[in-house]
Amino acid sequence: MKILFYDTKSYDKKSFDETLQNFPTPGGMELRIEYTKSDLDPRTAALAEGFDAVCGFVSSDVCAETLTILSRKGIRLILMRCAGFNNVDLDKAKELGISVMRVPGYSPEAVAEHAMALALGANRRLHKAYNKVRENDFSLSGLMGINFYEKCAGIIGTGKIGAAMCRICHGFGMRVIAYDVYKNEALKDFVEYVSLDELLRQSDLISLHCPLTDDTYHLINIETIRKMKDGVIFVNTSRGALVKTEDLIEGIRLHKFAGVGLDVYEEETNNVFEDRSDEILEHSTTARLLSFPNVMITSHQGFFTREALSAIANTTLQNAVDFTCGKESHNYVEA
Ligand code: NAI
Repeated sequence: MKILFYDTKSYDKKSFDETLQNFPTPGGMELRIEYTKSDLDPRTAALAEGFDAVCGFVSSDVCAETLTILSRKGIRLILMRCAGFNNVDLDKAKELGISVMRVPGYSPEAVAEHAMALALGANRRLHKAYNKVRENDFSLSGLMGINFYEKCAGIIGTGKIGAAMCRICHGFGMRVIAYDVYKNEALKDFVEYVSLDELLRQSDLISLHCPLTDDTYHLINIETIRKMKDGVIFVNTSRGALVKTEDLIEGIRLHKFAGVGLDVYEEETNNVFEDRSDEILEHSTTARLLSFPNVMITSHQGFFTREALSAIANTTLQNAVDFTCGKESHNYVEA
């Protein structure tokens, strides 16, 4: 099978090439990958001429037009190297007989550990402390944090990543409470499920791990922020639009938060994985957020560990093999 790999970054190529080297394929089946830096969209779909499958990522535009071109070029399989597939027109794919596969869960701990890193970093102002010491400013002013030990962690969404975050918080000696539409039985020994209001009221640390849906859009807004404890630490590594940014800014100005750590934020689409350091970002709420000393932002790097990239590469290649062999798999996504 020949795969055209879109939106290639150097770390993607490294991890897929390494995985491919020793990847076991049945009966002499050959897997070959060619890489292009272009992302998959209607303008670049024609590059797939002569390939059997394409591999896309979170920002690929796999709309009806892209799919129609891919179909004409003979593509029968789209390998999404991510969990999400909101950018794929599944109805059109089905109509054209193109299969779509994804990587549902690659390393929950990667994201959960980053959530805790942001919580700790924002709490102890590590982003400030690092720069102060570089400027020979060894004073401690503005750096005071709180202990996490014996504090209350409130986890919203206790699926794979939320559960990993519960385990981490438990390991820190925190009391762990959670809110989810379903209870995760595996956590029953050390997590107490409460209502959302109760979680907001009791938690010293609040971390979001639910998906973005119609129900969760702007879940964190000025109403829910007002229900939080003063001095709370708030972390979002899930999806930007779970939080109404204007309201978060208002909450910060009201001194509600001891620390805010964000790996995702509403404006991120134009920023993610791009170097925009030379630009003047007009009307940017992100710039406003960054002006606060207690806010630490990273650029959607929660998933970005060696283990997670290796898991993504392994599952994507296995998906290619399973498709070729006609084997059943839970990784197919359908309309
Ligand atoms: P999952 O599907 O295992 O867990 C999601 C949990 O949220 C489930 O337990 C579900 O019942 C719960 N949930 C759904 N609707 C809810 C609601 N209205 N209120 C409360 N809980 C609700 O998903 P997983 O793998 O744990 O991922 C969670 C999120 O993390 C993803 O949706 C994605 O947005 C984000 N993510 C972020 C990454 C990053 O690099 N920062 C990487 C991967 C995922």
